[in-house]
Amino acid sequence: MGRIPQRFIDDLLTRIDIVQVIGSYVPLKKSGSRHVACCPFHSENTPSFTVSPDKQFYHCFGCGAHGTVLSFLLEYEHLDFIDAVEHLAETVGLEVPREGGEIRAERHDDLYGILEDAARLYKQALRENKHAIKYLKDRGLSGKIARDYGLGYAPAGWRHLINCFNKSKLDVLTRAGLIKQNDQGQSLARFRNRIMFPIRDRRGRVIGFGGRVLDDSLPKYLNSPDTALFHKGESLYGLFELRMAQGKPQRVLLVEGYMDVLALAQNGIDFALATLGTATTRQHLEQIFRLTHEVVFCFDGDRAGREAGWRALQQLLPVFRDGLEARFMFLPESDDPDSMIRREGKEAFLTHVMSATPLADFLFTRLTEGLDMGDAASRARLSELAKPLLLALPEGVFKDLMYTEIAKRVGTSVKTLASPKKDDSIHRASNLRLKTHSPVRMAIAILLHEPELAQQMPPADLSALNLSGVALLIDILETLRCNPHLNSASLLERYRDTAHHQHLLQLMTWQPPGKDFDLRGEFQHAILSLNKKAMEQRADMLLKKGRNEILSPNERRELQDILRRKLGRIQLSTQKNDNSVL
Ligand code: GTP
Ligand code: MN
Repeated sequence: MGRIPQRFIDDLLTRIDIVQVIGSYVPLKKSGSRHVACCPFHSENTPSFTVSPDKQFYHCFGCGAHGTVLSFLLEYEHLDFIDAVEHLAETVGLEVPREGGEIRAERHDDLYGILEDAARLYKQALRENKHAIKYLKDRGLSGKIARDYGLGYAPAGWRHLINCFNKSKLDVLTRAGLIKQNDQGQSLARFRNRIMFPIRDRRGRVIGFGGRVLDDSLPKYLNSPDTALFHKGESLYGLFELRMAQGKPQRVLLVEGYMDVLALAQNGIDFALATLGTATTRQHLEQIFRLTHEVVFCFDGDRAGREAGWRALQQLLPVFRDGLEARFMFLPESDDPDSMIRREGKEAFLTHVMSATPLADFLFTRLTEGLDMGDAASRARLSELAKPLLLALPEGVFKDLMYTEIAKRVGTSVKTLASPKKDDSIHRASNLRLKTHSPVRMAIAILLHEPELAQQMPPADLSALNLSGVALLIDILETLRCNPHLNSASLLERYRDTAHHQHLLQLMTWQPPGKDFDLRGEFQHAILSLNKKAMEQRADMLLKKGRNEILSPNERRELQDILRRKLGRIQLSTQKNDNSVL
């Protein structure tokens, strides 16, 4: 489907009142110009969660949670961005438009349709094939599980499926990944003589298939190729079936194979999902955390399994906000969940699940592997290994605890451990350390607070300014100049998918230091001082250049101009010193 037009999100956010939306989840009390409540993101007895109707922004002074109304729905309701937009649009009776709209939707309709048809044909073929039925029976699966998961069988012939449809469907069959063309241009069925596992999206629509051979031939499994609907690295097998059985499960067990999900379900564990032969991705995890707060990863006990677990952990850290739980379960060698549950049964298997290693333990064990904590160099090494991982974590209590724990083990202070490298500027600025504010950060913070001020921008040219954050400031000014209707929240939403979003979110939590703080004056002051800085840099550059080569007439004029403005009338005479250049 096409993207949601930015314009629509802007408009939507001007119609929505964050106080109303958050107020429907959290009992807000008015206090001055804001509304307050006990924070829904951490436990507390005195309210430090505030919602500002002016900025359409929430901020908790306790745990640091903050964001727009969309962020709130993402965090609190675990909706994804699109669901959150759709939810808000519904509350004000708007239909969410899509870029490129209907044509695309129509084409997808035919893909969904053909995949559904194919799934039905495969199911039919399974009923008619004793060999395939026996295979599933031998693997311990009942007719009920086969039905629940819509299992099927792709017959052996090259022309199956093709012969079932009208010739006019060849194109859509190809786009759906069900047939492929060989070198001679002949159309062939992609899946032949395989048990078929339909892969369904959250809403139950078939988006692709996995297929397994019935013997030892290779490749053992075959997946649909990526199509407009199917993206292997994002899809989870069993998602729809799990939702049907469980609604919102207490936890999700993430395993590696189709057959694992089925064997677990067969034995009463109906909260397992499988990746489709790829490593765990961020998208997988985001989908899981929309469903539940806890994930238990299940990997082989061998080296490869541990490596896969470590890679999954790295994908997990950036999305691991407070309130979530993750554990890692490593199976005995040469076991997989299928063989294990069949041998040990449900209760024993559940015991393994419940005693899986918590994320923090897995992390510490792994980081300190082969290190001697009695040795200073080893401790320094631990600090180096841990830093990027801790940095990846979202702000919150868990992150603080991890810093404390690592600092304790390293034998240093949290402050030293958390001190960033010298060169990441705005990142640090965002930590509310606006006391040492640079004009760039000040200008951005004020614009986030009061976007209309962009329309009162004093004449300035910042484009040549070499200071961190300037490009972002210019971009914000430009955005506001072209979209004067944006409010704080919709401005922020424009940066959601960019590297700046986190920084901006944090600058957004800045508050004017006092009631009589002159936002407009401070903004103009910041811009003018940046403009001055830009001119100084430019003059320096031209002066340096002038020492080595002859400046063009334009450059000379520019330099004279800058120096005249900078030095003012009184000092014009000193220009003589630079005569060689001018
Ligand atoms: P069974 O042998 O049927 O028990 O399958 P399994 O789930 O134990 O398979 P295995 O551990 O070998 O593989 C786990 C998952 O990796 C499978 O469910 C597939 O998604 C994927 N996979 C395994 N073999 C292949 C292959 O040959 N090709 C592709 N594309 N994927 C594979
Ligand atoms: Mn297996």
